[in-house]
Amino acid sequence: MSGKNILVINFKTYREATGNNAEHLARAIEHAVNGTKGRIVLAPQVTDLHQISHTVSLDVFSQHVDPITPGSHTGWILPESVKANGAIGSIINHSEHRMELDKIESTVKRCKELGLETIVCVETLEEGLKIAKLKPDYLAYEDPELIGSGRPISKEKPDSVREFAETIKKDFPEVTIICGAGISSGEDVKKSIELGCNGVLVASAIVKSHNPEAIVREMARYL
Ligand code: G3P
Repeated sequence: MSGKNILVINFKTYREATGNNAEHLARAIEHAVNGTKGRIVLAPQVTDLHQISHTVSLDVFSQHVDPITPGSHTGWILPESVKANGAIGSIINHSEHRMELDKIESTVKRCKELGLETIVCVETLEEGLKIAKLKPDYLAYEDPELIGSGRPISKEKPDSVREFAETIKKDFPEVTIICGAGISSGEDVKKSIELGCNGVLVASAIVKSHNPEAIVREMARYL
């Protein structure tokens, strides 16, 4: 972890961010963030990890990993495998891929054993307080209702974001707080940081944009 403000770009399973499209998008992002003060993380689909991590020099995370060890787990995602394919960390418990608390705990543990960084997503302060005890590198506060809405959490729920950041930081200063959902502009990144976050998690505003490079450049300016 670098201590810099962070922009995490989640490619989700959008067509615009799948396979060769993912590679084009990653190249455009790399070009856009040249010279930024912040940290940029790409989270492509697990099937694209190898291609993306070998194409750009930005940090690459998996969108999910399972709390398993090598062996018989057909179709599950092995943390060792994402590491071998160039990921240096993983998102865990995204709103679109929720896990039980005990599974989150063992996944964070497995990642730590392998030196993989962790971004654990939560939907409420209550959930955040439970997960912060696991000491993930990043705790991402995302309101599921605002995800993909174009309505930024920083504008729609500024008090909740501020309360989340203040409360978690007080008891768990080593956990870096970020927020996401509907983040659409440089202004939204700026506001999130003013509210006490050290960065944002973004998907649709970048991936679905006709000019991803321009929007990434604008967001990266505020890190
Ligand atoms: O992981 C990022 C996320 O769920 C927010 O999505 O499309 O609202 O930026 P979006």
